[in-house]
Amino acid sequence: MLQQLSPVPVDPILGLSAACRADTNPHKVDLTVGVYMDDQGRCPVFEAVRRAQRALVEAEDTKAYLPPAGDAAFNSGMQRLLLGADNPAIGAGRVSSIQTPGGCGALRIGAELVHAAAPDARVWISDPTWPVHIPLVGSVGLRFENYRYYDAASHGVDFDGMVEDIQHAGAGDVVLLHGCCHNPCGADLTLAQWGVIADMAEQQGFTPFIDIAYQGLAVDLDTDAAGLRLLVSRLPEVIIAASCSKNMGLYRERTGAAIFVCADSKGAETALEQAKAAARRVYSMPPAHGALLAGRILADPELEKIWRDELVSMCSRINHQRGELRRALEDSTGADYAFIERECGMFSFLGLSATQAVRLREEHSVYILDSSRISVAGINAANIDAVAQAVAAVL
Ligand code: LMR
Repeated sequence: MLQQLSPVPVDPILGLSAACRADTNPHKVDLTVGVYMDDQGRCPVFEAVRRAQRALVEAEDTKAYLPPAGDAAFNSGMQRLLLGADNPAIGAGRVSSIQTPGGCGALRIGAELVHAAAPDARVWISDPTWPVHIPLVGSVGLRFENYRYYDAASHGVDFDGMVEDIQHAGAGDVVLLHGCCHNPCGADLTLAQWGVIADMAEQQGFTPFIDIAYQGLAVDLDTDAAGLRLLVSRLPEVIIAASCSKNMGLYRERTGAAIFVCADSKGAETALEQAKAAARRVYSMPPAHGALLAGRILADPELEKIWRDELVSMCSRINHQRGELRRALEDSTGADYAFIERECGMFSFLGLSATQAVRLREEHSVYILDSSRISVAGINAANIDAVAQAVAAVL
């Protein structure tokens, strides 16, 4: 049986990170996976997480299953974090959520609900988008359409193209949007542009499905959720896939939530029942550890403050690195890299061809994706000059 299996193409992100790990060059630089690295090139554990973890180890008296919807403190904390504590949709009971294994689990559960409600729905995805959206959402059986998003020439959002394409999305379709820190391009919508998307959703009847894995890494937690909150304030239904991987550094703990904003409280209850049934089909119950930590942090004002302060430092370090990288690249190449400072979050395209990206890896041990996406969060004082010189050498 297993001999019949065909080989699997290398993962466009994880495959290159594995290739970097295997590289014996001591000066190699890994800018592949979106993982925050500090100045020493380490992915640190947040202090708030350490404290929550110590308290959890003392208090935890069972390893019995969590309920199918997950930890209640985590779910309500995530709703407050994403939608804002005083969001009227929460007050009206129009919101339900399920704890999921990471943001990927949330995307999958959201897609399962879309398919259960509307098997013929088309899912409109940005061009480009995070490559994993395609297998995660597509393997449920949904079809895709592309909408234009990133304009490589101007290094910004092609909003006219986006609007022109989304005009073809109708009732029963889903438009998948990146809540902030677009992965892979780092170019985000303005709040006014989110307003246009809300108008279109109102008029055309499509459902926004927002993937938000980087809240707090562009400007701050509230500003980064402003587009999402605008849609929630205007529309009867919004699906949200949220992750604590990046903004709490809980990557390996697989901590996420699927949040369903529904037309009324009965709709929210049914969505939750469907989400639990979908989870039962795929993995039954969510993993506990990360969500119990995040739930504690979000329920304890002291811990939450420590976490928020740490996130502010992380975000300002990434933004600082963007400025440093811009200057280093401009010095080494003489070209204009101002867009790196305009963009936000962990990622930007360097604007290189796939051949140049391969040369960066093979000739300089600088690992970026073939699309030329780099994780800016992997840049530090020790590697920035090598990266800038390597880019100049392959231009
Ligand atoms: C990335 O885009 O690098 C991250 O979201 C990690 C992943 O799973 O691909």
